[in-house]
Amino acid sequence: MSSAFVADLESLKSERLSGILAAGRLSLDGDAGGDPSALLQVALANEIGVSELAAVWMPTTAEVDVKIAFARQAGDEANHFNLVGARLSALGIDVAAWTPPPDNPLFAYMKSLTTTVERIAAGLVTLESLAYGVNENFMALCAARGDHETVRIYREYIQPDERAHQQLGQALLAKYATTEAEQAAARDTVLRVLEIAAAARAKAASRLGTACFPGC
Ligand SMILES: [Fe+2]
Ligand SMILES: [Fe+2]
Repeated sequence: MSSAFVADLESLKSERLSGILAAGRLSLDGDAGGDPSALLQVALANEIGVSELAAVWMPTTAEVDVKIAFARQAGDEANHFNLVGARLSALGIDVAAWTPPPDNPLFAYMKSLTTTVERIAAGLVTLESLAYGVNENFMALCAARGDHETVRIYREYIQPDERAHQQLGQALLAKYATTEAEQAAARDTVLRVLEIAAAARAKAASRLGTACFPGC
């Protein structure tokens, strides 16, 4: 049963995700460093990165419902980019002069995925869960610093979309990962994404001075 498979995959994912999220909460408990506008610029880079990833996948995905899911996601993430950009502008950062960084190892890996099942597992299912979890930590940091406007933007606009992307991913995975080989590929992809993400986030955390920074 593919729905039982998705449920199993969800528990595996949550278990692996908990280490990454615990690192963020630890930063929160300590005297969290991290310049607020630098952290929001991480969000800007992630939002445009995921928008581009979904856009790249869209024309080379045959299944129409997955194709449309990627197209809608590309638009949602572009909207998140604009929301975060507007917040940065309000904080005095010139977003027009901002340029996206080159692909990090996570985006490079994701772009290398060619099958629909791997793309759903990596992008919608895993990256979106990671985003939702790390954004919750980031919102707690913003709230502790009194930046309630950033919290409101995440609460009202960004987080509901990230959750919807993740739920859509679960439904599409249940539909398309029906063979044992596809389910094994999905499982491997989830684990690989979280492994690369954990390493990339640890590296970024030492640069930013906190593990409490947003996702996409
Ligand atoms: Fe998303
Ligand atoms: Fe997003």
